[in-house]
Amino acid sequence: MRTLFSGGTLVGPEGTLQADLLVDGERIAAIGRDLPRGDVRVIDAAGRYLLPGGIDVHTHLDMPLDDIASTDDFRTGHVAAAFGGTTSHIDFVIQSKDGSLRQALDAWHALAQGKACIDYGFHMTIADPRPDVLDEIAHLPEWGITTVKVLMAYKGRLQLDDAQLLAVMRRAAEHGLLTMVHCENGDVIDVLEREAVAAGHREPKYHAMARPPELEGEATGRAIAIASVAGAPLYVVHLTCEAALDQVRAAQRRGRHVWAETCIQYLFFTAADLDRPDFEGAKVVCSPPFRTPQDQAALWEGLRDGALAVVSTDHCPFNFAREKQRGRHDFTKIPNGVPAIEDRLLMLHHAGVNGGRIPLSRFVELTATNPARLFGLYPRKGILEVGSDGDIVLWDPRARRTITAGTHHMRVDYNLFEGTTVTGAPAGVWVRGTQVVDGERFTGRAGAGQFLRRAAFTS
Ligand code: URP
Ligand code: ZN
Ligand code: ZN
Repeated sequence: MRTLFSGGTLVGPEGTLQADLLVDGERIAAIGRDLPRGDVRVIDAAGRYLLPGGIDVHTHLDMPLDDIASTDDFRTGHVAAAFGGTTSHIDFVIQSKDGSLRQALDAWHALAQGKACIDYGFHMTIADPRPDVLDEIAHLPEWGITTVKVLMAYKGRLQLDDAQLLAVMRRAAEHGLLTMVHCENGDVIDVLEREAVAAGHREPKYHAMARPPELEGEATGRAIAIASVAGAPLYVVHLTCEAALDQVRAAQRRGRHVWAETCIQYLFFTAADLDRPDFEGAKVVCSPPFRTPQDQAALWEGLRDGALAVVSTDHCPFNFAREKQRGRHDFTKIPNGVPAIEDRLLMLHHAGVNGGRIPLSRFVELTATNPARLFGLYPRKGILEVGSDGDIVLWDPRARRTITAGTHHMRVDYNLFEGTTVTGAPAGVWVRGTQVVDGERFTGRAGAGQFLRRAAFTS
């Protein structure tokens, strides 16, 4: 199958190029002016952009949590991602407390089996770094995994102490892996949560109050210090606030190998949203929590000047009418997480590019190129170049779309951005040369998505 995208504007991190683009089979075969037509399907791309398919490096599909799971699986989540212009993602495998990394990886491969419609990779979350588990880290690259994740929060569940962080980071660095860290001080949060509940402060807004930004700033600085001692490159996940960004900037100025992402939702909501009436604040309960307008301004600045390298989603949906209700009388029982996999590009383009905050080239860099570069997928993905995968988003910068749970494709009963009308949306989406979205229609196939064996991390 050969597809010629004719007369479009190709967008990359360096800027734009007016050209035709030919996809032959699964790969980009040619880029140039007036490419010969012959036996090809021609897509008229005039007046539209061609973007490299979006890459969301932080997702939780079908993530088990006690006796429930996040509500999008590898089929529904992939369909939603595709409609939003995301053609690859990296999900978090989570080691069980007494299990091995290999067992956890097998379980996640089974979750994706037969369902995947876009391409996907895995990070490995280490919850119990016993000596035999530390030894398993050496095998991750041969299993196609070049990132480990550790958490400094969720005490009693996923939280590691500083000695464990050091041990994992050392081992990861030894084997060429990038360590990702959830930076919040879980010990102090645990105290604040208990105090809040004991004082009868049980509404969603206390979730944010028990997780103040100082504790994200402190943990971010601590993670950077431990990574530095370990000689390990570090990637800070879901950074939300100025206090944490200051730590990242200071480390980058010292020449440390430290990168950070924020997630699309942190640019739009504040702690005040957790105080919506009728328990509606539960819809926006995630960790770290939403912050202040000043923190949002700092995040935009970080996206502009390069202190933040990536915009991801931390997509982890739970229904408001069901799973979120578990915390109606106690905010500590609200499953953490928000749905966003479908809306990342729409919202960043709308507020960022249309809003004059970031140029189009930076939009592509944050949503596709840097994710590919940092996570061992470049130049196979994240860029429109001859030889790269034919992951193409035909982006109509004039299309208007109103985001609503009534029409979204995520398997969840609300949308964070409900009622927002954006300008700019995908008109068509291709994964490795196969069209998966055609306007309102899904044309992909469950089982067609491929596991991405990622290359080792290089800075
Ligand atoms: O609230 C969130 N972010 N839930 C998903 C798990 C995590 O912390 O990344
Ligand atoms: Zn996290
Ligand atoms: Zn997460």
